[in-house]
Amino acid sequence: MKNEQPDTTSGQRSAINPTRIARLRRTRMTDPLRSMVRETELSRNDFIYPLFVVPGQKFRKEVKSMPGVYQLSVDEIVRECAEVYSLGIPAVILFGIPEHKDEVGSGAYDPDGIVQRAIRAIKKEVPQLVVITDVCLCEYTSHGHCGIVAGDEIVNDASVALLAKEALTHAEAGADMVAPSDMFDGRVSAIRRILDENHFENLPIMSYAAKYASGFYGPFRDAAESTPKFGDRRSHQMDPANSNEALREVEQDILEGADIVMVKPALSYLDVIRRVKDRFGMPTAAYNVSGEYSMIKAAGMNGWIDEPRVMMETLTSMKRAGADLILTYFAKDAAKLLNQSK
Ligand code: PBG
Repeated sequence: MKNEQPDTTSGQRSAINPTRIARLRRTRMTDPLRSMVRETELSRNDFIYPLFVVPGQKFRKEVKSMPGVYQLSVDEIVRECAEVYSLGIPAVILFGIPEHKDEVGSGAYDPDGIVQRAIRAIKKEVPQLVVITDVCLCEYTSHGHCGIVAGDEIVNDASVALLAKEALTHAEAGADMVAPSDMFDGRVSAIRRILDENHFENLPIMSYAAKYASGFYGPFRDAAESTPKFGDRRSHQMDPANSNEALREVEQDILEGADIVMVKPALSYLDVIRRVKDRFGMPTAAYNVSGEYSMIKAAGMNGWIDEPRVMMETLTSMKRAGADLILTYFAKDAAKLLNQSK
C-alpha cells in the first residue's frame, strides 16, 4: 500500500519519509498565517498616477472610455494633486493637451505650454508631490505622431532634438523627473546631455524602455486626443511578439543614462517585466495602461467581475513579476483600499 502513494515531496525530505504529503495548506489556514507568508505586498509608494491637463478654467471632463479618469484644467489638476498626495501616493505623471497642434508639436517645448504651467502650479501648491512628465510629441502634433513626419516616415534624429528641448522646458518649470515615451533611438542620451548641460544633472530619467505597439492604448488616445491621423506607431514601438529585443532596448536606455526603466503595457507583458528585472536589477516600472484599466472598469460596472478584487490582483501580479513602480489609473482606488486595511 505504502508504495502506491504518489511522492509529492522532493529532495531530502522525501528521502527521510517518502510517504509524507506536503501540506501546503497549513500556512493558508488563517488570515494572520497568510499574511506572514505573503511574498508580495502592494504599497501606496509603488504608485504613479497619470493625469491629463487641458487648457481652460474649472474644466473637468470625464473620458468616455475611461470611467473615473478626467481631463482637468490647471486649477482642477492642482486640487486633484492635493488629494492624490493626501492619499499617500508619492507621484503623478502629466500628459498635456495643448490649445493648438501643429506639424512640429511646438506646444510640447513652449516654456509656457500647458504641461509647463501645470508643473509650476502643482509644485507651488503641493511641493512634496513628485511631478513626472511624459515627454512625447504625439499630443502636440497635428498628425498625432510622436515626432516630425517627412512623407510617410517618422523622422528619428530631428524629433529627438525636439524631445530633448521639451524635457528641458519641463525641468525648468520644476518637474522632478522626465519620462520619454516616444521610443526613438538615442533620445535618452540626448535628454541626459541637455539636462546635464543646464545644471539638471540630478534630475532622473524614467524611460519608456520597452514600449510595445499595443492595442491597449486605445482609451488613452481618447483621453490625450493623440490618435495618429494616418499610419501607426509600429516603426518605433516594439512588436508584441518580441522579448529578446526588449532586453536590448532596456540595455540601450540604461547605457544612455536611464535611471528607471519601464515596460509598457503591463498585463500582457509580465514575462518581459520579469526578464528585465532579473537581467538588469534596475528600478523597474510597469505601465498598467488605459485599455487594461477600461476592461476591468467595464466588466466591473456590468457586474461581471468584482472590480476592486480584480484590480488588486492585477496590480499585485505586476509587482510579483518584478515591477517596483506601477503607473496606474487605479492608483487612487487602490490607495484607498490599502489605507482602509491599515
Ligand atoms: C505617448 C504615450 C501613450 C501612452 C503613454 N504615453 C500612447 C501611445 O503611445 O500611443 C499610453 C498610455 C495608456 O494607454 O494608458 N505619449
